[in-house]
Amino acid sequence: MIQKLIRKKLIRLINSKKVLRLFFYYHKFFKDKKLGSIGFDFNNKKTRLSIVQEIISKKKYENYLEIGCFDNELFNYINCKKKVGVDPVSGGTIRDTSDNFFKTNNENFDCIFIDGLHKYSQVKKDIQNSLTFLNNDGIILLHDCLPNNYYDQAIPRCQWTWNGDVWKALVECRTDENLDVYTCYADFGIGVIFKRKNQNLLEYPKENFSKLNFEEYFHNHKKLMNIIEYNDLIKLI
Ligand SMILES: C[S@@+](CC[C@H](N)C(=O)[O-])C[C@H]1O[C@@H](n2cnc3c(N)ncnc32)[C@H](O)[C@@H]1O
Repeated sequence: MIQKLIRKKLIRLINSKKVLRLFFYYHKFFKDKKLGSIGFDFNNKKTRLSIVQEIISKKKYENYLEIGCFDNELFNYINCKKKVGVDPVSGGTIRDTSDNFFKTNNENFDCIFIDGLHKYSQVKKDIQNSLTFLNNDGIILLHDCLPNNYYDQAIPRCQWTWNGDVWKALVECRTDENLDVYTCYADFGIGVIFKRKNQNLLEYPKENFSKLNFEEYFHNHKKLMNIIEYNDLIKLI
């Protein structure tokens, strides 16, 4: 109980305006290489709400898991026979971290939406755990895979609207022969992972994918992320 309260307060503190500002100046003066913006424009694209629901309806999926629910904007929208939402702070159906949830979980899911802590190491764990509990023919979706500029993905976080470095975990999956991985050009980038033979394997040997840097992504994002439009994605499902 006390542990959960401390965790909640800590999350609030690191996301407070003053702490974000402090880290913004740290990045500005010591890290940013002034590459500018890639220019992704998600304005006329589908939202994650309709994308997730259309996939669930098309595949007649019955079990949905959402990691990171916040104010339930997506979670409440989704119409699915069984829904589980995990978040240590708000929303969903289970008040806990994804790590703790997976330790005791014994259910499988058809569709898993990963949108919890947006840091490479946590997203990597969330993907690995999700693969363990994914039904055959299921799908894993990840939010916030296409940052537009350095600050959108900087660690530590330095602004409220933030993708984090989720993109690095997706690039790593792209190099796995047994995962078929895409990024849908919509709603800040929706990562898509199928548990099947990789149809467009990325040759990008890297010992530690957390060491990928924004410059590599800035210049090679199309190849690294395997970006596709929603119309093409839905044909693959
Ligand atoms: C971007 S919000 C989720 C938004 C929601 N999925 C949607 O589409 O409307 C991220 C949420 O992840 C939660 N979170 C942070 N760390 C987490 C963790 N370790 N496990 C699960 N959720 C986490 C935060 O509390 C926050 O509510």
